[in-house]
Order: sequence, then structure tokens, then C-alpha cells
Amino acid sequence: MIRAFIFDLDGVLTDTAEYHYRAWKRLADEEGLPFTREDNEPLRGVARRESLMLLLKGRACPEEEIQEMMARKNNYYLEFIKEIAPRDLLPGAKELLKEIHAAGLKTALGSASKNAGEVIERLGIGGLLDATADGHSVERAKPAPDLFLHAAAQLGLPPAQCVVVEDATAGIEAAKAGGFRSVGLGPPERVGNADAVFPSLAGVRLVDLLRAMHA
Ligand code: BG6
Ligand code: MG
Repeated sequence: MIRAFIFDLDGVLTDTAEYHYRAWKRLADEEGLPFTREDNEPLRGVARRESLMLLLKGRACPEEEIQEMMARKNNYYLEFIKEIAPRDLLPGAKELLKEIHAAGLKTALGSASKNAGEVIERLGIGGLLDATADGHSVERAKPAPDLFLHAAAQLGLPPAQCVVVEDATAGIEAAKAGGFRSVGLGPPERVGNADAVFPSLAGVRLVDLLRAMHA
């Protein structure tokens, strides 16, 4: 029986995945590091520090420089999200959150981002989320299941009764590691390991998700 849905934020509810990419790209350009959209794929859903490590491709760096580069990337990202408003919710997202509540089920956020609180506030959907797990909630980032386990614990539900909705490979892995069922949004090359895959939430209704989960 499914009683809740745990939503990733960046790339699921809003298109901040693009802003993360542009912020990393700017840092990479400044540092003379080659970085393409393809190079960005493994960074999806991955925490800030681990993302920088992937970007550096093994280049050794003193801790001070690592901290400075993470701060610099985050400042670029903060510039991008300043303009976020309810119109930036991805198609289908708000309708689905409302429909889940109307059906008596729960919703939670499961985002690796330390900026998730600000983005949720700007999108105006705080009232549609029953629990929030973000980049401040747990130590171990995705693909560890900790973030989603934290969200489920706040809802008071076991993982088997929660479905994770994700756009990143690391997020689907985290869901599986925690014993959650999962819905992947995006190309099968990225989220094909999920229990069900949709291109996006556009036009997706609760009944579609439940049917895909055989619930
Ligand atoms: C995830 C994004 O949601 O949050 C990643 O998909 C990002 O791209 C991660 O690196 C951490 O975000 P932040 O805002 O704490 O740097
Ligand atoms: Mg994401």
C-alpha cells in the first residue's frame, strides 16, 4: 500500500538542475577545467562537495581552495534562484501535489540541496509538503538512502509505503538502497533503473503513478 510520495526538488518540481549546471560551468570556465553538459550528467542529484570532486577529475586541491570554489559556485547559484517564482514550477508538479493530498496521501521533499528551503519558499509550495529533508538533514548524501529515510521517518511511514520521485541516477540508487519504490523522470539512460519512468510530470496524474507501481 502506498501512503506517500517523496519528491526530489532540482529537476523534478522545478528546473533548478539547469541553474546548478550553469553555476558549475561558470566555475569550471574560470578554473580552465573542461566541463560539458555531458560531464554534468554524473553531477545530477549529487551534493555540492562531491560535485566539485567530480568536476576536478582528481586534481589535488588544498581544503581552503575547495571551500572557496564551493562558495563561489553557490554564490552563482544563489544569483540564479533569486528570480524563482511560482511560475517556475514544472508543468504538472503543483497539480500532482494537490491531488496526492486530496486523496489523503502524504507528500515530502527529499532534496540534497542546502538551498532547498529558499527555493520551496520562492515556489510557494511549502504548504503542500508534509515533511522536508534537505542538504542540512543528513550527513551521507545520495546515492546513500539517508535523505529519503529521514523524510519517511518524519512522515512516520516505512520506506515500502513511500514512492520516491527523482530525475537523477544517484537519486534512484538512493531510493533502491533504502527499500523505496521509485519513479524516474527523464531519459531511460539516466533513470531507467526506476520502477517506472516518465519523461516529466507534465500530464501525470496520481492514478498513473499508482498504476505504474501496481498499487
Ligand atoms: C541537488 C542537485 O538537488 O542538490 C545537485 O541536483 C546539487 O545538482 C545538490 O549539487 C546540492 O545543492 P546545493 O544547493 O546544496 O549546492
Ligand atoms: Mg534532481
